[in-house]
Amino acid sequence: MKPVHVGVIGLGTVGAGTVDVLARNAPEIARRAGREITVTRAAVRDTSRPRACDTRNIALTDDPFAVVADSRIDVVLELMGGEETAFDLVTTALEHGKHVVTANKALIATRGNELFAKASEAGRVVAFEAAVAGGIPVIKVLRESLAGNRIDSLAGILNGTCNFILTEIREQGLEYGAVLNEAQRLGYAEADPHFDVGGIDAAHKLTILASIAFGTHLNFDSVHIEGIDQLRQQDIIYADELGYRIKHLGIARRQEGGLDLRVHPCLVPEEHLLANVSGVMNAVLIRGDVVGDTLHYGAGAGAQPTASAVVADLVDVVRTLTADPGNRVPHLAFQPAQLADSETLAITEIQCAHYLRLSVRDEPGVLAEVTKILGQRQVSIRVIIQKDLGGDDRVVPVVIVTHTAKEADVAQAVREIEALEVSSAPIVRIRLETLE
Ligand code: NAP
Ligand code: HSE
Repeated sequence: MKPVHVGVIGLGTVGAGTVDVLARNAPEIARRAGREITVTRAAVRDTSRPRACDTRNIALTDDPFAVVADSRIDVVLELMGGEETAFDLVTTALEHGKHVVTANKALIATRGNELFAKASEAGRVVAFEAAVAGGIPVIKVLRESLAGNRIDSLAGILNGTCNFILTEIREQGLEYGAVLNEAQRLGYAEADPHFDVGGIDAAHKLTILASIAFGTHLNFDSVHIEGIDQLRQQDIIYADELGYRIKHLGIARRQEGGLDLRVHPCLVPEEHLLANVSGVMNAVLIRGDVVGDTLHYGAGAGAQPTASAVVADLVDVVRTLTADPGNRVPHLAFQPAQLADSETLAITEIQCAHYLRLSVRDEPGVLAEVTKILGQRQVSIRVIIQKDLGGDDRVVPVVIVTHTAKEADVAQAVREIEALEVSSAPIVRIRLETLE
């Protein structure tokens, strides 16, 4: 049978990793796909730059539109990133009858509804396993392996860069900026690392997972987003002392009244499996009504793990090249006509325990004032510790762990405590999930 011809847009971390894997494992991949796979053409910005893969048999161009329009190409791998140009490239590829594999979570989360409609019209596939959790095949798991379940919730460490930074700060005592630089050097971070540390990348991934889990249209705007850029090492240390680890989590839950969709730093009990996911590793805990809990773990970023997911999609696409488009696995797991719009809970409506770090004057009656406000707002205290920093400073940290309370009540109590004359700095507030 004639080989399948592939055009690649982007030979950076993921693109070069993918071309390398396709060459290294070519015989095995061909046996799985049923066809030989040949990378014919690739687009980059700078064709003179050395690449981390063998490009001797690949025609390089700096015009990605020439690749998607090339009549010899059967499948396009969009491994460039960004939203606008990537959208135009993918739609042009579909118009030219090509299937597309992408690692671009920003594109899928924000423009996926349009793209999948165009793909269905064209009878083509847009595959995106590599867009979520790097090398972990979690899209396939949710879309196919758990198809008999009603998915109740999922919670995961979805950004390798954030987890790498949190781990290095906690375990090596390294400084935030230095670890972020290292994540960039290792190829984990996005072109704009604010997408990682600001929580946007994790929110893109959560948007995709939630859609596939609950059968809803992709709705990036419904996710509450907080990053790790406001976290302080002090809070990582206090959380440790209290028996927790701080992780950047993505959480999607069905609740009465709507979906609870959020990404933010979170205290997790230290004995929980998610608390022990370190470095660039990701993990996704999925709760289905039939199977119960399943946990999916693996490298969340980097050239080879991501290439593993891209190549898996490519093999799937090649296997289905001759299949009837109506009988393929739907892009978002549910048949397109069955996708629903969902109500989403405002962040103020969620119920959650909290870690609070106050900076207050060390004077008689201060704790009484603080606990009175919490009590008035129906926020019950589970642990309260006043840290003795051993200096003459009359301002001390007071760390409070609350029981589960309504987010709006906690936020109001925080505002009232901050307004006290004895309060000398904004309160650090981090949510806590037992994931029970
Ligand atoms: P990267 O290292 O920055 O590579 C981007 C590649 O795209 C480069 O080769 C660049 O060319 C090329 N490119 C950019 N704009 C172009 C244009 N206008 N025309 C032609 N080529 C262009 O990025 P990456 O880390 O591989 O990420 C690529 C995609 O994969 C992104 O969507 C990212 O979110 C996603 N992803 C990344 C990872 C990861 O671990 N890095 C994991 C999962 C998903 P030059 O090399 O000449 O500049
Ligand atoms: N920048 C992303 C991360 C790449 O660090 O997780 C993988 O999607």
